[in-house]
Amino acid sequence: MEYILDTADIQAIKHCNEFYPLAGVTTNPSIIAKENRNFWEIVKEIRDIIGPDKTFFAQTVQKTADLIVEEAKLMNEKSGGDFCVKIPISEEGLKATIALKKLGIKVLMTAIFSPAQALIAAKAGADYVAPYVNRLDNIIGDGCEVVAEIVEQFAIHNMPCKVLAASFKNAQQVHQCAAAGCQCVTVSADVLQTVIMHPMTDAAIAGFERDWQNVYGDKKILDF
Ligand code: E4P
Repeated sequence: MEYILDTADIQAIKHCNEFYPLAGVTTNPSIIAKENRNFWEIVKEIRDIIGPDKTFFAQTVQKTADLIVEEAKLMNEKSGGDFCVKIPISEEGLKATIALKKLGIKVLMTAIFSPAQALIAAKAGADYVAPYVNRLDNIIGDGCEVVAEIVEQFAIHNMPCKVLAASFKNAQQVHQCAAAGCQCVTVSADVLQTVIMHPMTDAAIAGFERDWQNVYGDKKILDF
């Protein structure tokens, strides 16, 4: 299971990269636009934090296959490390994916809302597909169920493509997708922090501290 951070907020990336076992950072045009700064400056800052081995995902803003390929090549060259281009599914996107695979550039096919879309993206050679869980839940769909169906379908058809579930609002959705067997999730810092929270954990830690202090006071193991 890979945890990926879904933001271009430099402070959030610094924090989560320090404290969590992150496999990379995903962005999309809306996430980048929120920062309202030079695109390459953002890319460089993210890469400086995560290093060359973790994957940086950025989405094309082009619409035709030829231009998507050009943009992907440039981002791949300039990203400074492991890179994967995000391409929304469409006819042009599929054509670009087939071409990019021949060039050895990793592709994540994004804006996936059905298992049928996911399967054809995988067949085109996408390394990842990103089903949007919460956006499906928002329209009374079942995002986690769609993720489960994609996982099952890839197993049946022996597809090496990874399921990178995206668009999460809460930790329960993340848990359900992990239980369904998706290989990666991309989440905001808020959702990631919620994943490790549990009131019983807080109570357990408080109990350990109290019992230790009652006997040893402020003495630590290092002081014995
Ligand atoms: C993946 O990177 C997607 O672009 C992202 O998770 C979408 O999330 P949203 O539905 O919260 O915008």
